[in-house]
Amino acid sequence: MQIIDFEKIESVERYKLMAGNIIPRPVAWIVTENEGIINIAPFSYFTGVSSVPPLLMVSIGREKKGINEPKDTFKNIKETKKASVCLVPIELTEKMDKTGEVLPHNISEAEKFGIELQRIDENFPPIVKGCKRAFLTKLYGTFENEEMATIPFFLRINKMYIEGEFEPVARVGKGYARLCEMENG
Ligand SMILES: Cc1cc2nc3c(=O)[nH]c(=O)nc-3n(C[C@H](O)[C@H](O)[C@H](O)COP(=O)(O)O)c2cc1C
Repeated sequence: MQIIDFEKIESVERYKLMAGNIIPRPVAWIVTENEGIINIAPFSYFTGVSSVPPLLMVSIGREKKGINEPKDTFKNIKETKKASVCLVPIELTEKMDKTGEVLPHNISEAEKFGIELQRIDENFPPIVKGCKRAFLTKLYGTFENEEMATIPFFLRINKMYIEGEFEPVARVGKGYARLCEMENG
């Protein structure tokens, strides 16, 4: 038995303990569009928080890893106030994982990784083709202070896209898992 004091461990250890134990987590595959460039990136500090109003929360790091530059998704949502949040089906896991790579702001993951997009509403960024569930959202607000390296973005769901059967991938630690059903679940 041990009790770990989170104030006395490194942030990477905190991440491992949280990501390895708050499981499974869904993955928000977020599409944003800014000055004609489509950006796609996955986020698993992600959950639904309220139905009145319909809000979800995605926590986005302020900066790209090792670079003193904002994450594209962070910058784009702040500037455009819009995001299409796709839920990831098992068959797109590998493609989704690739889009976690750090790329310069002017390079689109869609082009680099050959990800097909589908425009379902002219007022929102497109969704990733093959994603069977997606939320078209507008920025509701953020919660920020100086200590925070990762900022929770509250997004208000404007519309939801639904298509056929959907088996989501789940994030477990640094890996992925399928869900299995339990009786009486
Ligand atoms: C499955 C998965 C989950 C991730 N979850 C998060 C997260 O919750 N918050 C975050 O800031 N970065 C997360 N990342 C890392 C971002 O996807 C990564 O920093 C990406 O380069 C950001 O892209 P952007 O600069 O185009 O927004 C995750 C990566 C993967 C593969």
